[in-house]
Amino acid sequence: MADLNDPNVQWWRNAVVYQIYVRSFADSNGDGIGDLPGITARLPHLADLGVDALWITPFYTSPQHDHGYDVADYRDVDPLFGSLSDADALIARAHELDLRVVVDLVPNHTSDEHEWFKAALAAGPGSPERARYMFRDSPDGPPNNWSSVFGGPAWTQVEDGQWYLHLFDSTQPDLDWRNPEVPAMFEDVLRFWLDRGVDGFRVDVAHGLFKEESLRDQVVTDGDAPASSAHEMVERTITDEPMWDQPEVHGVYREWHRILDEAGPDRMAVAEAWTQTIESMTAFIRPDELDQTFNFAWLLADWSAESFAEVITDTLAAVEGVGAAPTWVLSNHDVVRHVTRYGGGEQGLARARAATLTMLALPGSSYLYQGEELGLEQVDVAPEDRQDPSYLRTGEVGRDGCRVPIPWGGAEAPYAFGPGAAQPWIPQPADWASLTVEAQSAAADSTLAFYKDALRIRKDFAWTAGDVVEMVDAGPDVLAFKRGPLTVVLNCGTTPAELPEGEVLLASGPVDGKLLPDTAAWLR
Ligand code: GLC
Ligand code: CA
Repeated sequence: MADLNDPNVQWWRNAVVYQIYVRSFADSNGDGIGDLPGITARLPHLADLGVDALWITPFYTSPQHDHGYDVADYRDVDPLFGSLSDADALIARAHELDLRVVVDLVPNHTSDEHEWFKAALAAGPGSPERARYMFRDSPDGPPNNWSSVFGGPAWTQVEDGQWYLHLFDSTQPDLDWRNPEVPAMFEDVLRFWLDRGVDGFRVDVAHGLFKEESLRDQVVTDGDAPASSAHEMVERTITDEPMWDQPEVHGVYREWHRILDEAGPDRMAVAEAWTQTIESMTAFIRPDELDQTFNFAWLLADWSAESFAEVITDTLAAVEGVGAAPTWVLSNHDVVRHVTRYGGGEQGLARARAATLTMLALPGSSYLYQGEELGLEQVDVAPEDRQDPSYLRTGEVGRDGCRVPIPWGGAEAPYAFGPGAAQPWIPQPADWASLTVEAQSAAADSTLAFYKDALRIRKDFAWTAGDVVEMVDAGPDVLAFKRGPLTVVLNCGTTPAELPEGEVLLASGPVDGKLLPDTAAWLR
């Protein structure tokens, strides 16, 4: 039995994991698109920031219709991002710097340019090639009423009249996980990357893979069109989901667990599972399945002490039941950056820093998204620069605004994102000069300095403060809890609050005998 308190074994249990969105992190060759050598060159920044691991979004061969979440070859690197030897070099350099590497695995669908899909189109109806995907005959329109997460119908018709299912873009055909060739392929892919030395996998759309076998219509109660996106289902309180979260998926994760174990006790997988309930979320992290799952409840919580307290209590209770470590996340490449969600500007930033400090004090691991350490806001990307397939399918703004390339230095775009003056694939705002890594490294009161302080101090208690969180009553607008020697307070109200007894280790903003609104503090 592995020692759960040994940071060298189940390192993820208390890790801070930094998400790199490859296209937008650092460009080494001046084509305006981030790449693997760009990441490798910037790894010292991450070591210096104080994170424990990085999760890198897909860099495999892909026509890039969903920026790599449409994989054409799971065992190779897209030339846009480099080569397999660049991946090896990245992993080796990260390990030298004591950073673990988590890569993205996309098992729900392939690209329509994957060999398998090309063969399926060529082979025609009824062929074993088509049986790897979800092709159906349906002369009178789509086989059922399902919507794509990116808008519009989840089915596209091919020339010979058959339809194929795609829960995302039409260039992302869903695989048929009931066909044994499919799990066999992914087992090989896992081994391929484990052999190259990766420490773990982030499993994309982990609640997908299997669909209810009948492919029946989704029951929609509000008279509107069906919905596949988790956000929309929650908003519209649609609970029927024949396309998600089927019991068969857990058999796959039990097999993957064995494969990870074979590679060593320090390999992990984290699930992206937008499930409807905490119980269904914890099913993915039972002891013989995956190790972690993103806890989107924290990201979705309103700015209120009550909501945050509820998420903390429910999460800890749920993961305790299965013995897994909790996770916390405020931003990623699919959602509006949290500074902006909290209202933007000075107040949005103050709240974002406060929520981050609170999160970093909790037991378990925290996932950070590139650029949040700079306090970046969502960018209002001009329509002609938008590239998100969901924008292209629906005309709604989409996710480009959280994917704008990182400003590293200099006074104007591209802010040293790449060499020379080559402009990045999404234009950066003109007012980012004071937000660059270079500028913030020189300013003691910057958001970057704040993140570094928080991560440095966190190292002193992350593995020793225990998993018990004791909520403290501090009035309706203040969240307060104790964890081991640490007391944490977050003022979500509009008036200054009392600071508890103790030495302030760190605060997310100025403290002046009192805890100001939109501020959090760690005390000992
Ligand atoms: C996940 C990814 C998202 C992608 C989708 C389809 O939700 O996070 O970026 O578009 O899966 O693969
Ligand atoms: Ca590049």
